[in-house]
Amino acid sequence: MKKISSRLDSIKPSATLAFTQKAADLKSQGLDIVAFSAGEPDFETPLHIVNAAKKALDDGLTRYTPVTGTIALKTAVAQSSSDCRKVPCDTKQVIIGVGAKHVLYNYFMAVLDEGDEVIIPSPYWVSYPDQVCLAGGTPVFVETRPEDNWTLTAEQLEKAVTPKTKVVLINSPSNPTGGVAPKAILEKLVDKALELDLLIISDEIYRDIIYDGVEFHSPLTLAKEKKENVFVVDGVSKTFAMTGWRIGWGIGDPAIISAMGKIQGQSTSNATSIAQAASVIAVTKSMDFLDDWNSQYVERRDIMIERLNAMDGVTCRTPQGAFYVFPNVEPLVKKLGKDKNDVDLATWLLEEALVATVPGTPFGAPGYLRLSYATSKELINKGLDRIEEALKKL
Ligand SMILES: Cc1ncc(COP(=O)(O)O)c(C=O)c1O
Repeated sequence: MKKISSRLDSIKPSATLAFTQKAADLKSQGLDIVAFSAGEPDFETPLHIVNAAKKALDDGLTRYTPVTGTIALKTAVAQSSSDCRKVPCDTKQVIIGVGAKHVLYNYFMAVLDEGDEVIIPSPYWVSYPDQVCLAGGTPVFVETRPEDNWTLTAEQLEKAVTPKTKVVLINSPSNPTGGVAPKAILEKLVDKALELDLLIISDEIYRDIIYDGVEFHSPLTLAKEKKENVFVVDGVSKTFAMTGWRIGWGIGDPAIISAMGKIQGQSTSNATSIAQAASVIAVTKSMDFLDDWNSQYVERRDIMIERLNAMDGVTCRTPQGAFYVFPNVEPLVKKLGKDKNDVDLATWLLEEALVATVPGTPFGAPGYLRLSYATSKELINKGLDRIEEALKKL
């Protein structure tokens, strides 16, 4: 008897989690690993948010909440989205889930029929294709260009569309590239997608982590018509350093929100009541701390970029959002040996230099590595010293 469902046959475990785990295992064996692999801020959740969670416990907010989220959090999210995306939003358009990942999954489950195609620009965040497959859809990858800040263009979209295409995915700022979609390219892409009557899912989880005076543009703001076809995914994980709290949200057509609520009602029910209460404070109170965090990210990014580009065989663009750099390392892969790839290089760096990175292949970008700079300058320099030393042996 085949015990495991064939639904899982083509599903891969998350590569970022796998490399993070590998690094953690080596650490637990006593090895001094420098980890550039994790996708989370190294800052602590701001104290006023932590205190709000303590207060929620003291106030006895320990029971089920409505499945799709408390009215307080939905109201806070609707208000903040109306303010920042300049598109009115009410609570019927909001669903609270167990992190943005959960919201994305429920969205695909709610809108996809067997064989529906989802256009995913590559490089892409590792979970998108597997979530689409789990929901019965077919991921269709379209390679983007570094010089477009890795943004899908309207022309590329038009070429990739088939009668089965239902959704196009946009993720800016992007994981893994840190690329921020330029307004001119994004606007044409949104126009084209809506002209083709596609749904757009916009993963805006890194919206607030953006540098160099570059502006964030949401497809929801840019859409001139059919705004109900745009679904935004966001949450507290990255902006507020709250990855473990597991609160994310979706903003979109009430019909889709209601379908997602049905799925949630038969699976997870509500996200944690205490984390929801703390997230209300996160979303409604001052975000002053972000300026300091973002300037620290910029300093760290600049060290990484300068030092990586000084290494033979490494070329790295300067990203303007999120907290990842995405260097091209093809010459190093070649040096490693015939038939070697970026996964071998990341494994070699972990074993030889005791530095954890994530290979580009699971992001749909062979020949690249992803390094997170959400860690201290000391550790960044220590890790890069080690990589430099190790590369001398190649
Ligand atoms: C692009 C992208 N979307 C969504 C998520 C999921 O975020 P959450 O922690 O809210 O589930 C991540 C987390 O790494 C991400 O990088």
